[in-house]
Amino acid sequence: MGNLLGTAILLPLALALLIRAWRPRPAHPFPPGPKGVPFLGSVFEVPTELLWVKLVEWYKEYGPIYSYTVLGQRVVVISGLREAGDILDRMSAKTSDRSRLIKVHDYLTRGKELGLLPRNDVWRAHRRAAHESFNSRAAQDYHLVQEEESRVLVKDLLNHPGANADDHIFRFSTSIAWRASFGHELIPLEGPDPSLPLQEIFKAIFTGFIPGNSIVDLFPFLNPIIARSKFIRRSAPLPTPLQSVRDCHCQTRRQVLRRCHCLFRQVFFRSSGESITRRTDTSITATQVDGTMAALRWFLVAMILYPEAALAAREQLDRVLGDRPPTFADYEELPQIEALVKELLRWRPPTPAGLVHMASEDIIYDGFLIPKGAVLMPNAWSLCRDPSVYPAGEAFDPSGFLDDNGNLRRPPLDTHDDYPVFGHGRRICVGRALAKNSLWISIACVLWAFDIEKGVDEHGVEVTPDPLDFIDHGVTVWPKSFPVKLVPRYPDLADRLKPEPA
Ligand code: HEM
Repeated sequence: MGNLLGTAILLPLALALLIRAWRPRPAHPFPPGPKGVPFLGSVFEVPTELLWVKLVEWYKEYGPIYSYTVLGQRVVVISGLREAGDILDRMSAKTSDRSRLIKVHDYLTRGKELGLLPRNDVWRAHRRAAHESFNSRAAQDYHLVQEEESRVLVKDLLNHPGANADDHIFRFSTSIAWRASFGHELIPLEGPDPSLPLQEIFKAIFTGFIPGNSIVDLFPFLNPIIARSKFIRRSAPLPTPLQSVRDCHCQTRRQVLRRCHCLFRQVFFRSSGESITRRTDTSITATQVDGTMAALRWFLVAMILYPEAALAAREQLDRVLGDRPPTFADYEELPQIEALVKELLRWRPPTPAGLVHMASEDIIYDGFLIPKGAVLMPNAWSLCRDPSVYPAGEAFDPSGFLDDNGNLRRPPLDTHDDYPVFGHGRRICVGRALAKNSLWISIACVLWAFDIEKGVDEHGVEVTPDPLDFIDHGVTVWPKSFPVKLVPRYPDLADRLKPEPA
């Protein structure tokens, strides 16, 4: 029986590899890159964790556009801003598809996730609804929520100095995500937090997004076998956000649906006509929580390692605000804070290997063939260090975004307003305005409220955070946990946070 099963899997596998290898030679060469080994390609060279580290290494060897294969699947890595603009933005009609990620799309998220959908009519309806709900004008509707959440973040940091700063950052990120996407109420530090039961699926989604991380995506012909085997798939399905809300609040489904009133859901159901009970939205929640959380953790690292950047921003905060906390009404007067947000996302992009697109047609670029079906990987880490635009490289220096008068500089071409971190073309992050605002107000509030200093470990020894110590969470990456000391800048800080925004 075991032999039969082995033959049933190995024989088609060998055939598939042979068929892929015997494809006729194209007229144009593929972009250069590591050759790997016959049939298998670079499967042994591509790490399953911290993929972008390898991508950056290869970029230095092969240049801003190179390619490799994994078991016959061609992956084209784009590491220069001009190349990303040409291929992913200006040719986006041919480069905005997503590869079929069978494991994540079919099994883990039941084929209902905007970020994973192929470029079809269902994706268009979802995308339109999400755009209508989160574009830069609509994002202003969340200003009051974000101001309130930022003050709660400061208050929690003040009142629970013993708690790990990561816990506060997680609460802040998750509370905004659930309020914006599901109309949930503020999630307090003590919970219940419906994100917690979803951590496993968040990680599975983000890991499944990396090409080569799932057998069924490499060999789709195995899908019928997997589809029939509960044992191979997994014994119990992972919860969806709606189930998680229901469990956290001990509510019935009807009660949960009643509390899920927010703009996104209204627009979504109007435009797609789909029943609310069949939606999951796990990836939207996951992107929001993980992206914001990663950026804020890196913010603390940057403020400790580059105190001069903190000082410059704080001087402006003090001059403009005096001793009251910031609000979005101060936005125009505080270009230092936006420069800091831009530098933060450039210095440590939360998704350093980007999110993959797929070519839906053959493309000839710079004399190279990018074949239909190729995975296109925007190497965000390198894009954010493109020396033609961001010479600061590994240093953290927000002043690069300011002109001689201290105003924000005009963003160079192909940088998406100096935020290359949010992706490209028709797939560009739909929640980027919301994300930028969350970071802007929370960073402004924390810098206004606290001096950020090195914390001590359990032996009382001061700890300097290591900016190269990464925690890999699939497509998102954040720093390893470290102690931080937040010293209130006002003895009556709690009082100054009142009155809260109406
Ligand atoms: C700092 C926080 C965030 C970062 C770094 C981030 C980054 C990204 C990136 C790199 C992509 C892929 C773009 C591409 O394929 O070219 C993406 C897609 C997406 N993001 Fe974000 N994101 C963040 C926050 C958010 C928020 C707050 C929301 C929701 C309100 C959101 C919703 C989405 C969705 C729905 C997609 C998929 C779009 C599609 O496939 O059509 N993201 N994000």
